[in-house]
Amino acid sequence: MAKLAVNIDHIATIREARKESEPEPVTAASLVELAGCDGIIVHLREDRRHINDRDLEVLRKTVKTKLNLEMAPTDEITKIALKIRPDMCTLVPEKREELTTEGGLDVISHFQMVRDVVSRLHRKNIRVSLFVDPNSDQIEAAKKIKADYVEIHTGIYSNARTESDVEREIKNIEESARHALRLGLRVNAGHGLDYHNIQRLTHISEIEEFSIGHSIIARAVLVGLDRAVREMLVLVKN
Ligand code: PXP
Repeated sequence: MAKLAVNIDHIATIREARKESEPEPVTAASLVELAGCDGIIVHLREDRRHINDRDLEVLRKTVKTKLNLEMAPTDEITKIALKIRPDMCTLVPEKREELTTEGGLDVISHFQMVRDVVSRLHRKNIRVSLFVDPNSDQIEAAKKIKADYVEIHTGIYSNARTESDVEREIKNIEESARHALRLGLRVNAGHGLDYHNIQRLTHISEIEEFSIGHSIIARAVLVGLDRAVREMLVLVKN
């Protein structure tokens, strides 16, 4: 049965809309955990547009499940990760002008830099996942770099509009997950997943955990965080 880790960045996005102290991401993380999720994810961005350093510090002390820090593989953020020691770091590409992460990390082009960050994190016993497109060359590079996990980018699948595109992308994700597992990598998946499109991925037994943010927080605004998380858990663990 797959696990569900919830990205709570958008709770901090609402707070930052007014630069006030609420809503509090730490309280949100506790509610998400009480609803039964398997992990909490936050992305500490270079521009601190939502989650900030203090959030990360307090979450490290309060998260009871598993704290996964999404981060660009830069020296500044790596030093913070080494100090905070989350349970896992997921390395993602980051552009200042993007609204959300666009595309997977190009592990092949940034091989040396990513390898250095992975080994620095490993020295502090932090597991590392690389967010990659469903592409066998990138997955093989992730293995060579000694990543523990890959998180397969599901964004192209979630944006697909025709049935043939959807089917092609499901097949891509499925084959990539199988390939990664065969190489000895563990497999997560995420980006753009919602209450409708998740159902066609849950049969892929190679996927250990789904990482979902926007759709859960968007629903939570209308129905409450507890209900939004529980409804997604039913779909993920069906
Ligand atoms: N996985 C990664 C690596 C991401 O960067 C994000 C977005 O922060 C997610 C999963 C979650 O995506 P969404 O918010 O679309 O569910």
